[in-house]
Amino acid sequence: MNTSYKTHKFDVLPIHECHKQTMIDQFLALLLLVVISYVFSIIYKNRKSGRSKINLPPGSFGWPFVGESISFLRANWDGTPERFVRERIKKHGNPLVFKTCVFGERMAVLYGPAGNKFLFGNENKLVAAWWPSSVNKLFGRCLVTIRGDEAKWMRKMMLSYLGPEAFASHYVATMDIITRRHIEVHWRGKEELNVYPTVKLYAFELACRLFLSLEEPNHIAKLASLFNIFLKGIIGLPLDFPGTRFYRSKKAAAAIRKDLMTIIKERKVALEEGKASSSQDLLSHLLTSSDDNGKFLTEMEIANNFLLLLFAGHDTSTGSISLIMKNLGQHPHVYDKVLREQLEISKLKAAGELLKWEDVQKMRYSWNVVCEVMRINSPSIGSYKEALVDFEYAGYTIPKGWKLYWSAVSTHKDEDNFEDVTRFDPSRFEGKGPTPYTYVPFGGGPRMCLGKEFSRVQVLVFLHNIVTNFKWDLLVPDEKIEYDPLAAPVNGLPIRLNPHQVNLVDTSMNR
Ligand code: HEM
Repeated sequence: MNTSYKTHKFDVLPIHECHKQTMIDQFLALLLLVVISYVFSIIYKNRKSGRSKINLPPGSFGWPFVGESISFLRANWDGTPERFVRERIKKHGNPLVFKTCVFGERMAVLYGPAGNKFLFGNENKLVAAWWPSSVNKLFGRCLVTIRGDEAKWMRKMMLSYLGPEAFASHYVATMDIITRRHIEVHWRGKEELNVYPTVKLYAFELACRLFLSLEEPNHIAKLASLFNIFLKGIIGLPLDFPGTRFYRSKKAAAAIRKDLMTIIKERKVALEEGKASSSQDLLSHLLTSSDDNGKFLTEMEIANNFLLLLFAGHDTSTGSISLIMKNLGQHPHVYDKVLREQLEISKLKAAGELLKWEDVQKMRYSWNVVCEVMRINSPSIGSYKEALVDFEYAGYTIPKGWKLYWSAVSTHKDEDNFEDVTRFDPSRFEGKGPTPYTYVPFGGGPRMCLGKEFSRVQVLVFLHNIVTNFKWDLLVPDEKIEYDPLAAPVNGLPIRLNPHQVNLVDTSMNR
């Protein structure tokens, strides 16, 4: 079967190319590892640890320097990221925490809802947000690389644009317009297409339009192809020499940042000249908002935050929309129920009337379906923290400076948290839903995902438009999902599109 579909004119790196690069990267990384490991094993051999009497969690630091990074990354690339945690928990007799070494860092993995609760509840007390050094090097100073009061202020500023209150008054209709236009241009009239790259383009266009008011297709396409390169080096070993993913990613980040700086400078002038409004989009909002002492973000901080938001704001949603379409293709009775709910909403609207915030609130069953998809294939595997002090957890000492990891994927796929864990069952989210801290696709606590509401509305608006226009057949049954670093179907999810024979929206309106 031909799975190398090309659905649009934009320069999106084909998935098989990514795999070729992945293999070269893996080979280069392994070669380097062997050399470095040999040198480090000699240095480490007789090294005495001053902390040898501390009761550290069970586990292994693996190879010197690289630790267990390769096993960690391989589990993600194989599409079973939970395997890394599960194998070690089993091996060490089901402790609540185990130690490992990933990305060159000593790390404690806190397992299950108890671990999630502990980490989310102790932000800025015992632990603080942390990301691998590749993230710090690529993003520069922005929300994910700062902590404490500064991070609180930056979050507050962005949330006033991205939070539920903002959505209640703006954006839903704009999202609907962009979604309808995207479907007319990229889906209508096609017999077959690859969902993942097509949705990626949509999610990127949407983020560019809502965050930066960017609309010029060639400009968006150029940025989109740079982001595809940038994404691949974000989580991994920061091996900075030609030929590695990190090196390519750094070059792409520099090009994106340069473009963003030009956009920022032009907007500053437009604001000064009264040609742009301060509420026009997130860019104007960040340029005109200051903290209580009148301090504004620098242009570089704004550019870095847009690098973060454009990445976080489209790759995660692309993964979740693609996986929703995959699951609806696999479960026709669920598709039928989603369609019924969406037609009920259309029925109450005038012809052509755009979706409103109130309509999105009525999409309860559809949201349960989305939640179940994100349970089974969490778009993001989890995230990291750093210990601010020595502390005790589950009878073990976690030393200051160690990194901590909580895993959404292994929490979601644990039979202790979800009965019949592999069954696709949206009804799990009815009523009170899952027990607290067992369902954590967006994290939790003060550093919970900033784009939760944005992504909820985006995914539901897209779902409304896609099911009321099409049904589809999956061309690769049970296609594998890989994490690199976010969830994506390996063949790009090729489908056959079946437009509804009658206009269901009009029919449902009895006209
Ligand atoms: C299905 C969609 C999404 C998923 C599953 C997701 C997941 C996550 C997760 C797991 C975290 C880490 C939370 C923690 O450490 O507790 C996170 C952080 C973050 N997300 Fe999302 N995300 C999604 C969409 C978005 C969107 C659309 C945006 C932007 C509009 C966004 C922006 C961010 C930002 C800025 C952070 C860092 C927050 C901080 O450090 O304070 N995310 N996300």
